[in-house]
Amino acid sequence: MADRLKSKVAIVTGGNSGIGETTAHTFAQEGAKVALMARREAEGKAVEEAIRADGGDATFFSCDVRDKESVQQAVSAAADTYGRIDVLFNNAGGGAGGHFPDEPDEEWIRVIEVNLTGTFYMSKAVWPHLVAAGGGAVVNMSSLAAQRGFSPAMAEAYGATSSSYYAAKAGVDALTRYMAGVGGKNNIRVNCVRPGQILTPGATRGTSRDPDGGHHVFEKMFDFHQIIQGPGYPQDVANLVLFLVSDESRFLTAEIINVDGGVAAKI
Ligand SMILES: NC(=O)c1ccc[n+]([C@@H]2O[C@H](COP(=O)([O-])OP(=O)(O)OC[C@H]3O[C@@H](n4cnc5c(N)ncnc54)[C@H](OP(=O)(O)O)[C@@H]3O)[C@@H](O)[C@H]2O)c1
Repeated sequence: MADRLKSKVAIVTGGNSGIGETTAHTFAQEGAKVALMARREAEGKAVEEAIRADGGDATFFSCDVRDKESVQQAVSAAADTYGRIDVLFNNAGGGAGGHFPDEPDEEWIRVIEVNLTGTFYMSKAVWPHLVAAGGGAVVNMSSLAAQRGFSPAMAEAYGATSSSYYAAKAGVDALTRYMAGVGGKNNIRVNCVRPGQILTPGATRGTSRDPDGGHHVFEKMFDFHQIIQGPGYPQDVANLVLFLVSDESRFLTAEIINVDGGVAAKI
């Protein structure tokens, strides 16, 4: 165990699965006390126990980021448990509400709420704790979808790429720059990560597999688009997030950084 986050308290939303789960482990291995927040309790408790079994410190707090009351309760409970908050990784999210123009209105609202409004509610609830701690670091979760246009090939592979997801993640990019501007005077840095294709339960759910090789269509498609071949893994994102919340990136704020195997440079 190293100590790049020694004595820091970090909230990871969506910490019970995929990128959030791996990042929570990475934070804990670097000495952080980790507050895991998501809706599914059994999965959250399992991650909490795995981190503790590994010698780290984590506690799961049930939270729906779309619900302001739920967010405030979870943040207060985390602050009561650990005494302070230094780091926030706004990772909870997801998409696939259906194709424009047929995407149902209620799916548009749901996807905007979980990705964008959830990031706003959570940041708002955590902000006073970061100010009280004398500063801190926030990392928001965007997506290549915010930067690049809609691809019919992706629609073919996934069955659905929603207009709401593209718009929500572009909103997260803009919110990042805005929050970073506000944070300067309180020593709060705000940055954002923009993954390409990362092999997680959320990203591969519902995608088909090759009958022979067993590869997700997902993996094959991005071998074509990426400079670096093969899939991205949650650890690839977690390593970047760790850098962005550690003191090693102390002179870096308002940045949106791709972690996509070079897709953005190639297409
Ligand atoms: N994997 C990729 O290729 C990729 C690429 C670009 C961006 N991203 C982004 O990365 C983030 C993590 O995705 P993932 O791929 O790791 O998928 P995942 O394994 O499905 O994780 C999604 C996480 O978000 C949580 N979540 C969803 N709705 C929530 C809500 N209303 N309140 C609280 N938590 C909620 C889920 O927990 P509960 O369901 O228990 O609440 C889960 O922990 C998402 O924001 C996604 O958009 C992923």
